[in-house]
Amino acid sequence: MTAEQLLREMSDLAGPFAVRVAATLRLADRIDEGRHELADLAAATGTHQAALGQLLRYLVRRGVLAETRPEHFELTDVGRLLRDGGPIGRRQWLDLDGLGFRMDMAYAGLLHSVRTGEPGYAAVHGLTLWADLDETPAAREYFDALMRAEQRRTAPQVARLVDWAGAATVLDVGGGNGGLLAEVLAKHGHLRGVLVDRSASQVAAMSTFTEMGVAERARFVAASFFEPLPEAADVVVVSRVLSDWPDAPARTILGHCAAAAPRVLVVEVLQTGQNPHFDLNMLVTVGGRERTVAEFEQLAGSAGLALADVLRGADGLVVLDLAARS
Ligand SMILES: C[S@@+](CC[C@H](N)C(=O)[O-])C[C@H]1O[C@@H](n2cnc3c(N)ncnc32)[C@H](O)[C@@H]1O
Repeated sequence: MTAEQLLREMSDLAGPFAVRVAATLRLADRIDEGRHELADLAAATGTHQAALGQLLRYLVRRGVLAETRPEHFELTDVGRLLRDGGPIGRRQWLDLDGLGFRMDMAYAGLLHSVRTGEPGYAAVHGLTLWADLDETPAAREYFDALMRAEQRRTAPQVARLVDWAGAATVLDVGGGNGGLLAEVLAKHGHLRGVLVDRSASQVAAMSTFTEMGVAERARFVAASFFEPLPEAADVVVVSRVLSDWPDAPARTILGHCAAAAPRVLVVEVLQTGQNPHFDLNMLVTVGGRERTVAEFEQLAGSAGLALADVLRGADGLVVLDLAARS
C-alpha cells in the first residue's frame, strides 16, 4: 500500500458508517434469512431502494457482500460477522442506536481530549460514560455483559494464580457485575467477599453471585472508590479499573485500597499488540490510559504500596501483588 493509500484508508469515513448502517438495519440477518434481492431487502428494512442499492454495492466493493448476479446479494465471511448473535458480538456494538456507537463517537471529542486530557465522551455526549451508564440501565446491562466476557478470561486466572490461603475476606473495588469476585469465591470456599461499585451494577452483581452459587458469602456495597472504602478486608482486588483513569485519580483509588487492606492486588490486561487503539480508546471514552507493569508499579509506589510480586497469566493478564507500607 502506498503512503497516500494508507492515509486515505485511515481517514475515510465511508467504511465505518456503511458497516454501522448495515449493522443497524440488520442486513446480514435479512440476507441470512434468504432475502437476497435488492427489492426484498429494501422492503424488509424499510429503506429507499435505490439508496440501499448504493450502500450494498459499496459493501460489495469493500468485501462485506458479494453481488452474485444483478441486484442479488450474498454474505461474505466478513458479512457473516455482522449477523445478530455472531461469535464476536460485532452487530450490537456497531448498531447506531447502541452503547458501542456512543463509545466510538467519543472520537469526535478527541481534539478536546488532546487539548485537555479529559474524556471526549463527555464533550460529545454531555456526561461521562459512568454517568451515562448510571442513567441508562440498558446501556449498563450491555457494558456489564462486555465486562463479563472479559472476566471469563481474567477471573479463572486470578483465582488460580494468586495465593489466597492467608486471607479470609476480599474486597473487589470497582468489581462491576461481580464475575471476578464470584469466581474467586467459588474456587476458594474459605473466602467471603464484598464488591464495591456504583449502584447501577448491583442487579447484575447479585445475579452473578446467585448464578455462581456464592450469594451467601458475597455482598454488594454501593460506594465510590473516590471516597474512603466502606469496609476493610484482608485483600483488596482492583481489576481493570486503573486504566480508566489518569495518574492523579488512579493514585487516589489506590490510596483508598491501601487504607482498607494490608494487601492490594492490581489486575490488568496488558496490550499484546492486537489492539493498537486501546490507549487512545481509554483516553477518549474515559480519560484513561495504557500503562506498563513498571508504570503501574510506580503509580502504586506513589500511593504507598510496595511491589511484592508480579504474577503473569495468559493473554497479557498481570496481577501486581502489593503490600501496604504500614
Ligand atoms: C472497566 S470496569 C471493570 C470491572 C471489573 N472490575 C472487571 O475487571 O471486569 C470499571 C468499573 O469501575 C466502576 N466505577 C466507575 N466509577 C466508579 C466509582 N466512582 N466508584 C466505584 N466504581 C466505579 C464501573 O462501574 C465499572 O464497573
